[in-house]
Amino acid sequence: MDFRTLDGVDVAGQRVLVRVDFNVPMAGGAVTDDTRLEAALPTIRRLREGGAKTILLSHFDRPKGKRVPSMSLKPVVAPLEKLLGAPVAFAEDCVGETAEKAVAAMKDGDVLLLQNLRFHAGEEANDPPFASELAANGDLYVDDAFSAAHRAHASTEGLAHLLPAYAGEQMRRELTALDAALGDPKRPVLGIVGGSKVSTKLDLLHNLILKLDRLAIGGGMANTFLFAQGWEVANSYCEKDLADTARGVMAFAEKRGCELLLPIDIVVAEQPHPGAAARTRELGQLDEHERILDAGPKTVAKLCEAMDASATLIWNGPLGVFEVPPFDAGTMAAARHAAERVKAGKLVAVAGGGDTVAALNAAHVAGDLTFVSTAGGAFLEWMEGKTLPGVEALRRR
Ligand code: 3PG
Ligand code: MG
Repeated sequence: MDFRTLDGVDVAGQRVLVRVDFNVPMAGGAVTDDTRLEAALPTIRRLREGGAKTILLSHFDRPKGKRVPSMSLKPVVAPLEKLLGAPVAFAEDCVGETAEKAVAAMKDGDVLLLQNLRFHAGEEANDPPFASELAANGDLYVDDAFSAAHRAHASTEGLAHLLPAYAGEQMRRELTALDAALGDPKRPVLGIVGGSKVSTKLDLLHNLILKLDRLAIGGGMANTFLFAQGWEVANSYCEKDLADTARGVMAFAEKRGCELLLPIDIVVAEQPHPGAAARTRELGQLDEHERILDAGPKTVAKLCEAMDASATLIWNGPLGVFEVPPFDAGTMAAARHAAERVKAGKLVAVAGGGDTVAALNAAHVAGDLTFVSTAGGAFLEWMEGKTLPGVEALRRR
């Protein structure tokens, strides 16, 4: 791919600004999932070994240009130090005198994390003076935040024009995996798209139909397709006003020769309560108070067969209400099957998007897939075929 990487770059003594994505899940001021911290380690280690001064830049949450104390990046420091096995200094501001002093105090091999970029409105506005203030603390810029690459912000886009810019290790891994799944994949390619809303996934469905051989639709959005085919969905989540749209998607798939896989049986209950009595039913066979909450076993078996017949799988979105067992069963079974095929060397499986990663973690198979993206929105936009400003800015010009 046409990106500058750190290969062959002498970073010794250089101040390297590294855009990471430490927008991690937190509860009560503690990090609850360190996947994104771990993702940043290869680049940090590489820079330390090369004798660079590593200056980490990140946003956290959406403080909208204000200094919101609960959105400080400080709680990230301790878990990062633990994972890295080295001290990480922290500065209470990402620009100005505070940042400047902290950078000036660094020795080669040191790591410093600067405070939340979004405490300054200039970050999201991609404001040139703000980008210049950031750039003043670095000699080189490395973008390792694929998951923030759909944002054209000062730290993800502006900086790339001010300093020599490179893709970090995680950025490289993400781009390589995504290319293997959708850019230039081994065929046949199967997609799984779940989640609730057809309305937010139309661009995605369109682009995938153009690129895939088979596309399985699951989750709440499948109900809208079933309804459009004339099936009773009773009390299920369903965007009935999108029935025409769903029929249009089906016609488009037919025309483009992409086989759509819709549920052929369903799991229903009255409410998605934990441990609720789940009933497996044929399509349309549900009482008026019942709703569809998961894919049925025949559907899952058919999906597994489709995986067996595919060389590549790209997956976004759970098949059912996976947060509430037993309605996680379909998603879990499909995830385990995908992991087995990958382990057997028969399938390249790439997954991404917030809920998807949580579901794969719950099934304990995230580590067994070929690649699980750290990105939510960026993964989706990339699957939609959109160009990501943070990636574009890194291309060799
Ligand atoms: C994410 O968590 O998806 C990224 O960090 C981007 O965050 P944002 O949606 O607040 O820009
Ligand atoms: Mg987000």
